[in-house]
Amino acid sequence: MFSHVNLLVGESRGAIAAVAVTSIACGFAEAATLAIIAQVAASLVNGAKHVHAQIGPLVVNAEVRTLIWIGLGLTVVRLLLQWPLSVLPSRIAADVQAGLRSRLFRSFTDASWDSQSRDREGRLQEIMTSQAGQASNGAQQATSLVIASCTFVILMASAIALSPLAALAVFVIAVGMFFILRPLRSLGVRRSRLLSQAQVEYAVGVAEANRLAEETQVFGVMEAQYDRVQGLIGVCRDRLFSTQLVARLVPNLYQSLIYLVVVVALGVLEATGGGHVGSLGAVVLLLLRASQNGQLVQASYQGLQQSMPFIERVVGADLKYAASSVDYGERALTRVDTVAFESVSFSYNPGRPVLSEITFAVDAGEAIGIVGPSGAGKSTLVAILLQLRTPSAGRYLVNGNDVQQFAREDWHRLVAYVPQEPRLLHASVAANIRFFRDMDDEAVERAARLARIHDDIMTWPNGYDTQVGPRADAVSGGQQQRLCLARALAARPQVLVLDEPTSALDPHSESLIQESLTALKSELTLFTIAHRMSTLDMCTRVMVILDGRLVAFDTKAVLQEENPYYRSASLLAAGTSGGLLLDEA
Ligand SMILES: Nc1ncnc2c1ncn2[C@@H]1O[C@H](COP(=O)(O)OP(=O)(O)O)[C@@H](O)[C@H]1O
Ligand SMILES: [Mg+2]
Repeated sequence: MFSHVNLLVGESRGAIAAVAVTSIACGFAEAATLAIIAQVAASLVNGAKHVHAQIGPLVVNAEVRTLIWIGLGLTVVRLLLQWPLSVLPSRIAADVQAGLRSRLFRSFTDASWDSQSRDREGRLQEIMTSQAGQASNGAQQATSLVIASCTFVILMASAIALSPLAALAVFVIAVGMFFILRPLRSLGVRRSRLLSQAQVEYAVGVAEANRLAEETQVFGVMEAQYDRVQGLIGVCRDRLFSTQLVARLVPNLYQSLIYLVVVVALGVLEATGGGHVGSLGAVVLLLLRASQNGQLVQASYQGLQQSMPFIERVVGADLKYAASSVDYGERALTRVDTVAFESVSFSYNPGRPVLSEITFAVDAGEAIGIVGPSGAGKSTLVAILLQLRTPSAGRYLVNGNDVQQFAREDWHRLVAYVPQEPRLLHASVAANIRFFRDMDDEAVERAARLARIHDDIMTWPNGYDTQVGPRADAVSGGQQQRLCLARALAARPQVLVLDEPTSALDPHSESLIQESLTALKSELTLFTIAHRMSTLDMCTRVMVILDGRLVAFDTKAVLQEENPYYRSASLLAAGTSGGLLLDEA
């Protein structure tokens, strides 16, 4: 647990130390104030103007009026100390929350695609927002724990100085109760672990319901969808209830025992013959306040423990991402001359190869089509080409060097990709093409022209400033696809990888994209997964992938002669005017 707390508040260590020091000062001021209150009250009861008393080790010999002034001074000191005691914990809580979120998102952005793609939708959001929030609540609890413990110790020490026996009795009971309540605290931790789990399930369920809203309407399964999310809400409700119950029950139990503790202390005082009435009053006041702080220690310790499962989840996600971060080399890459695989194999799960022993070499300027039935491994091959995934065996060479040796920036500038599903930002057209990279308006427009989307953009209400986005219907599927092509072309890549869209492309967009790519052919090495025969028109060679193996890699003419899969696909395509999905062949 302490390693987690350390991770949580590590960077706020200085602030926590300052909180501790301030609490100790505050505790001393409070102890002195309580002693003075008791003395002054006792003197007033006796009608005395002067106090001469032994308070613990201290002999007080002063006017009552002076004591009142000192009490006033101490109260002002305590008042002033409340400022740092408010500022510091607030700052710690805010810093810890922000720190936790930044660290987690850093690991996420550095993580491999393999690790990122294994997360269910909505999970990262949930961990970054709600779970990180509840984890940083642990930091607040830790700060309260420090304040309450310091105050408790100082008040207790003062009480011991005044009346060792009574104070020790209270101390023993307070500490004993802390241990007695331990099973309840463990119960609380188990409950909040279940709660944390349920919240993730709930968030993932809501994200999925949101994504499938259209299908839900079409299939008329709104009620079933509602019931499903309702079930998740119910589980969260039950677990929140039991977590809250334990969190409240323990401090409440403790609190109601405080007076019992003080009464016991009075009993001890009575049995040991009491003492000066002012000292007695001071002991009782100190013990009462010490017990209250004891209760706070208990409550904040419990709160800290109950936030542990949330901290563990955030830290766990952080470690998981961090463990998968990708290594790139330093070697500069200015031109891509050859792209080659040497016996590349790949499996998502051990023992179940998806690609086996793939070997090929491609020269700059070639346009390569990739065909094969669905599930053959085409997208996986493309993911390896893009360095989104690393071969499980074999070598991926660019210009004869292991691809991982090249510098990350060079690689990303030279290699671009258009995915099967266009994915837009909720932002302007220009921002979508630019996609966080540094480029001027001219470069953006050049890319839009190359992708044959510029003319469409000019007809939109705000041109390049028109807002587009995933659910904005102002932009058709084909236009979204061409925007994504513009994004890919914007940095003037030398290698372009396309996972050919099947659904989004209308014949008009398709011919525009074909035209554009044909014009760029001399500048680009192109790899395109082809679902339609017509895509292969611009390809110099075609790879046929069957069941994870590269069974043929040749010109269309040769494949037509020698490859049965290719032949039957093109035969079928001829009957469907070129629109055939090769996957279905
Ligand atoms: N993320 C993944 N985890 C596990 N298996 C996967 C994953 N992606 C794809 N596969 C499996 O790998 C095989 C090849 O998939 P894929 O490369 O997408 O084929 P294609 O693009 O040719 O349709 C399929 O059997 C598919 O089920
Ligand atoms: Mg695919």
